Amino acid sequence: MTSKKITETSAWKKLKEHVREMQMQESHLKNLLLDADRCARLQRSAEGILLDFARQRVKNSTIDLLLELADQTDLKAKVDAMRDGRAINNTENRPVLHYVLRTSEDPPSERRPKFGVQDTVAAVLKTRRSIEQFSTEIRSGKLTGSTKEPLTDVVVIGIGGSYLGTEFVYEALRTDPDCAKEAVGRRLRFLANVDPIDVTRALEDLEPANTLVVVVSKTFTTAETMLNARTVRRWLQKGIERQDVSAHFVAVSSAGDLVEEFGIPEKRLFPMWDWVGGRYSVSSAVGILPLALHFGYSAVDEFLQGARSIDEHFFETPHRNNLPVLMGLLGVWNSTFLGCAARCVLPYCQALLKFAPHIQQLDMESNGKRVDTSGEELGFDAGEIDFGEPGTNGQHSFYQLLHQGRIVPADFIGFRKSQQPIEDPDEIVSNHDELMSNFFAQPDALATGKSWQQVLNEKVPAELAPHKVFPGNRPSNVLLLDQLTPYTTGQLLALYEHRTAVQGFVWGINSFDQYGVQLGKVMADSVRDQIAKCRKNPGSPLGNFNPSTTALLESYLGTNIGGDK
Ligand code: F6P
Repeated sequence: MTSKKITETSAWKKLKEHVREMQMQESHLKNLLLDADRCARLQRSAEGILLDFARQRVKNSTIDLLLELADQTDLKAKVDAMRDGRAINNTENRPVLHYVLRTSEDPPSERRPKFGVQDTVAAVLKTRRSIEQFSTEIRSGKLTGSTKEPLTDVVVIGIGGSYLGTEFVYEALRTDPDCAKEAVGRRLRFLANVDPIDVTRALEDLEPANTLVVVVSKTFTTAETMLNARTVRRWLQKGIERQDVSAHFVAVSSAGDLVEEFGIPEKRLFPMWDWVGGRYSVSSAVGILPLALHFGYSAVDEFLQGARSIDEHFFETPHRNNLPVLMGLLGVWNSTFLGCAARCVLPYCQALLKFAPHIQQLDMESNGKRVDTSGEELGFDAGEIDFGEPGTNGQHSFYQLLHQGRIVPADFIGFRKSQQPIEDPDEIVSNHDELMSNFFAQPDALATGKSWQQVLNEKVPAELAPHKVFPGNRPSNVLLLDQLTPYTTGQLLALYEHRTAVQGFVWGINSFDQYGVQLGKVMADSVRDQIAKCRKNPGSPLGNFNPSTTALLESYLGTNIGGDK
């Protein structure tokens, strides 16, 4: 699809000019937040999620202009092309259909891809059924390990998109009371890093006889994952004292031949498909197999339903009321027009401690691009630097910078009810209310700040006053949900997946390839070859590296060919 470049639209020019208006003192958030009508207009509720963006540096006219920008960059046509199954990942000639992973049993025709891959819904449903059956048989003890002992523990080996999302959902659910009950007596571990320390940590206290290993790799060639899989296979073989440990392995991959070559039989392979990118694959077997093994299938079903509610909202709701669209447009406004390079996600919920690392990969691998879909340089910076930490931990860490240092737009995510409430009559508020007091205060502190005059009114010594001023005018979204459950976890996942896609569509980039990760991997191949050579024949000459890398390798290998200077 050829659509207008963002920089050539009239909305782009208008927004550039509008920035000046938003920089005037009267547009400071402390003033804008006094306008009740504006505050009411900058709130949306959908699917049980309340999004308040009154603390964004926007007026009603800004939202109108951003919606104009969405129209002029053909956002609707691009979202429709994604839903319909067009090959919108143009550099790899693939459709992008992760929403189908959340399909209902018998979706109406408008919720089935129309082009390209025809059997996606059937493939997803078949895989779901096999996951449900397999996980039930493992959990009930019908399927055992090779010594006939139950497989109570699961180690998931995978990295990047084959790991981060699953860990986020696992952490989100493990303190949900219903999920916790289902997981009694079971353990779920993740092994991602090729660092041998991670092997020790992942296998700590586990018994090989009771351990099932899920190797998750779309390509089944990722160096870290394959070395970890071989390492853990040796651990199993040694622990069980037999060569054939296939009863302890399953794989999730789209490379069936390589899985078989590794020794995992076809019936223990759960598929991944080209039309699902790694970082968008949590709702595929990548995530739902380990989660079903640990929490049981009904939690997974609820999780998928939650994600589906947001898919339907995203595809069917006009832009003005569409949560992922609004969040994406605000992301474009903050980064491209207001010049904020970073952004943070601040869940006031400890169970979301792995949400930020997932968003980091989802967003930065998707939108960290320098050219548009046709390969032309963008001429502006796309993608944000994403980071985050649960509140209130973050408050005692990097919030200093948020309040008085750089401007970093933030998403505050909070819940009306805790997964694990604690109330004590001796305390003036419950523990959750204490947490949420911070949740409501921080966005206002960032937005309104504290002026020089306010500081002086507090009789602060003049020399200290500048240190106590808060400039304010720091933008944020507030997202309020009922409680963190499998359903709302699925909603959060889909909300952010679609936000990422919206930003990519508006910027005109391909959010679904990741060529930027290749160069480092290829260069690591030459270093590995060199290290292998030197370990075998100490003193072997170092190959064609630059002088700095040569010196570093000499130091690492202890060859010190050049001698001490
Ligand atoms: O780091 C790049 C990447 O290709 C990710 O996009 C992907 O999720 C990850 O590596 C793992 O890849 P695989 O699933 O093929 O092992």
